Amino acid sequence: MWTTDDIPDLSGKTALVTGANSGIGLATALHLARRGARVIMTARDRVRGQVAVERVKAAVPEGPGRKVELRILDLADLASVRALADGFDEPLDLLVNNAGVALIPRQTTADGFESQFGVNHLGHFALTGLLLPLLLERRPARVVTVSSDAHAMGRIDFDDLGLENGYGRLGGYSRSKLANMLFALELQRLAGDRLLSLVVHPGPTATSIIRPGAFTRPLAAFMRLTLKSPEKGALPSLYAATAPGVSGGLYVGPGPRVLTPAARARDEDVARRLWNASEELTGVRFTALAARP
Ligand SMILES: NC(=O)c1ccc[n+]([C@@H]2O[C@H](COP(=O)([O-])OP(=O)(O)OC[C@H]3O[C@@H](n4cnc5c(N)ncnc54)[C@H](OP(=O)(O)O)[C@@H]3O)[C@@H](O)[C@H]2O)c1
Repeated sequence: MWTTDDIPDLSGKTALVTGANSGIGLATALHLARRGARVIMTARDRVRGQVAVERVKAAVPEGPGRKVELRILDLADLASVRALADGFDEPLDLLVNNAGVALIPRQTTADGFESQFGVNHLGHFALTGLLLPLLLERRPARVVTVSSDAHAMGRIDFDDLGLENGYGRLGGYSRSKLANMLFALELQRLAGDRLLSLVVHPGPTATSIIRPGAFTRPLAAFMRLTLKSPEKGALPSLYAATAPGVSGGLYVGPGPRVLTPAARARDEDVARRLWNASEELTGVRFTALAARP
């Protein structure tokens, strides 16, 4: 079985992990740093982010080329996404679109999007598009998007992207995770051999996303005891991000092993429509993909 011991030497590589201050993102950042990558950890809260960076630095002493840095990124605000991208101007080998919210009450982002869709999908769509020129400077860079098997329950109604006609926490979450799947697979189709885009399902993992507010208190407490550790939950992301010889377009689940996306995640017409809608909503266009080198 593939383990973190199988992560190859990442010296000279630069990785950016969103939502790296806790859970699966923190474990992902830590193991990338341990194998020598320079890791940009993003967090929406400076204090939580700094605490996480110090944890990684304590576990993985910095060395030549091995650096861990904090950048502030609030995916619920496109101005924050643009600010991060504007302040970043070096080649990027790996982008891990990990951050997420789950099963939250109805909220809207700073730009007025339903929050689970806005944070989990649109924020990462915009971030990836804005960082794309830097990713394309590396061959082959990888984009790993953290989805969930909940995507199989998702449904995208293009006439109601704001979920105005009835909001359910699970419906909103599964829709956002279906959007993650459609995005990652369409990105691979559009990029061809210019980058690798993979999508992962961590499997049920004990993180702060499993909180009493999302489930009933007893269920959340029970789940915390039975779920796997963030380190195990990060294995699919780490495999997709680093295993040599993997193909783009794969969906990697716990194990890690390759899974088959639900049929609705493989619908190329829906993927194209979602892509176009996401470009309209965010104002971010993947122009670098239009031009063949
Ligand atoms: N845990 C599971 O069982 C499970 C299963 C399937 C999929 N996943 C997926 O795994 C990914 C990681 O989640 P996790 O389980 O590790 O949960 P987590 O510990 O709650 O981590 C989520 C991360 O996302 C960040 N985040 C939330 N809203 C954000 C925003 N507006 N802008 C920037 N960052 C934001 C959080 O920051 P704060 O600390 O500031 O909130 C946190 O760093 C998510 O995409 C989730 O959907 C998890």
